[in-house]
Amino acid sequence: MDGSDYITYANGYKINSKYVIIATHYPFINFPGFYFTKMYQSTFYLIAVDTKKSLFKGMYITASEPTVSFRTAIYNNREILLIGGMDHKTGHPSSCKDTYGKLEEIAKKYYPNSDILFKWNTRDCISLDKLPYIGYFSSAMPNIFVGTGFKKWGMTLSNVAANIIVDKICGNSNKYEYLFKATRLKPIKNHDELKNMIVQSTNSLLLDKLKRPQMTFNEIKNNSGSIIEVNGEKVGIYKDGNGKIYAVKPICTHLGCLLSWNDIDKTWDCPCHGSRFNFDGKNLYDPAFKNLETYDL
Ligand code: FES
Repeated sequence: MDGSDYITYANGYKINSKYVIIATHYPFINFPGFYFTKMYQSTFYLIAVDTKKSLFKGMYITASEPTVSFRTAIYNNREILLIGGMDHKTGHPSSCKDTYGKLEEIAKKYYPNSDILFKWNTRDCISLDKLPYIGYFSSAMPNIFVGTGFKKWGMTLSNVAANIIVDKICGNSNKYEYLFKATRLKPIKNHDELKNMIVQSTNSLLLDKLKRPQMTFNEIKNNSGSIIEVNGEKVGIYKDGNGKIYAVKPICTHLGCLLSWNDIDKTWDCPCHGSRFNFDGKNLYDPAFKNLETYDL
């Protein structure tokens, strides 16, 4: 077919191409590649602060845990402070508690008269050896490339990925290629991280599904959510501020892990690879790309 080896379907269009680059944050093609066995997602929180004072130059990051970073930005012609940190594996509700509160405490400690302007969080893909995956997606799929696992350094590493992949397609050598080779085995030789991934997947795919939910329907307060059991089936319930009920099947549409409720963002988050869904089941973030099944209660 005109020298084209792959067909990509998107938004009703069909694209023939010799090369494909998967740059979808977390790759949503599971097999081959098996990125779900060697990468997880981490949630990172930020607040924007009007300190009402002149600020420092440069960007700073703590050397100790938990990691907190400080930098400035311009908003409405004023210099404001961005404080980020309190990151944790996506989909672990106990880690989400009071993350913004801790960042606000830091802001108030150094700038007692400051105002918090905005709060938000982001997600980053983290490989098991903490280096990105850049290059051939899988040895079984020639001419398909990937760039992922940038570990919060996306603005820098996406440019590295672009250079390496362009060189590969143009037949040039790139001296950094070997460092980030996406098909390397080193990540899965990190036995501690691999064990964590396997334990997490076993719990969420199997064991957690067998446990009885801790809450009943009546115990769920307005503006909150939880998993309950209805006729032996797990159902994810969210009651909005007016008591309106949203019911979903709390099973991730990526590979079937049991989701957990995120009370900060009012979302259903997956502890396995970090997909997220809105309280009404709408898919928000990859690697899942389908909405949750919903129930009419
Ligand atoms: S993100 Fe992979 S099973 Fe949910």
